[in-house]
Amino acid sequence: MIIKPVDKNIKKPVLLKQVLKFFNPQPNQNFIDCTLGQGGHALVILERIAPHGKLLGIDFEILVKPQPRLILVQDNFANLKQIIEKHNFKNIEGVLFDLGFSNWQLEESGRGFSFKKDEPLDMRFARTGVTAQEILNQWPEQELEKIFRLYGEEKQSKSISRDVIANRPLETTQDLAKLIYAWKSKARIFQALRIAVNKELENLEKALPQAMSLTEKVAAISFHSLEDRIIKNYFKTNIFSQEHCAKLRVWQKINTKLN
Ligand SMILES: C[S@@+](CC[C@H](N)C(=O)[O-])C[C@H]1O[C@@H](n2cnc3c(N)ncnc32)[C@H](O)[C@@H]1O
Repeated sequence: MIIKPVDKNIKKPVLLKQVLKFFNPQPNQNFIDCTLGQGGHALVILERIAPHGKLLGIDFEILVKPQPRLILVQDNFANLKQIIEKHNFKNIEGVLFDLGFSNWQLEESGRGFSFKKDEPLDMRFARTGVTAQEILNQWPEQELEKIFRLYGEEKQSKSISRDVIANRPLETTQDLAKLIYAWKSKARIFQALRIAVNKELENLEKALPQAMSLTEKVAAISFHSLEDRIIKNYFKTNIFSQEHCAKLRVWQKINTKLN
């Protein structure tokens, strides 16, 4: 099977083939992509569900150009049910979550997601709410240590949080990056802050049961062990799960009447 994103500038998602294999999108079906990003999954699915199938794409910020049969929704996927009711979106074949941040956010947003750049410590997907800078400069040491340890799974969380407190105020990504010695730790601390700023785990916990109540097929891609744990907790007796590979979990109801 040859898969090419519709727009050549879009990087092909790593698990596109597996997602398509699971959903097996057919003409005139409807899908939801809860993490639209640059449309790497959505635009391929949209092509396959032509001529009348619709795709509802949700993201905190919309980077995909409007086009026929694509419903663009700038919102938090934690509001999934409200969103589909508002758009009267029905007969949903499958719901996709591709968790985390996009390449565009990392490389081009200028919002401090990368420890390799020198940018303001913002890290907000939605451009509202508390910034990474506010967390670093205002939260108590124990809270910083907790998010570094839990969300970043960082062994040096104690000494790094101590160094943050001692070097306040921090304004840019380099102010933070230079306090952390190892590259892997830099990545883990930046990840932890991003998860805290965007309440990523809370949003996932709210969205998964909503998604599963809407359709027979839900797929979630995650590269973070805490997200994966949340996802695993939603296995239910009437839901058949398969794993195509370590980072993709999928559900397919085997008997919807049991609901
Ligand atoms: C890994 S990227 C998705 C990439 C996309 N599948 C593609 O192929 O271009 C994750 C996206 O999810 C969005 N996102 C993360 N949490 C969200 C939430 N709670 N509600 C809406 N969008 C969210 C981010 O803004 C980001 O664009």
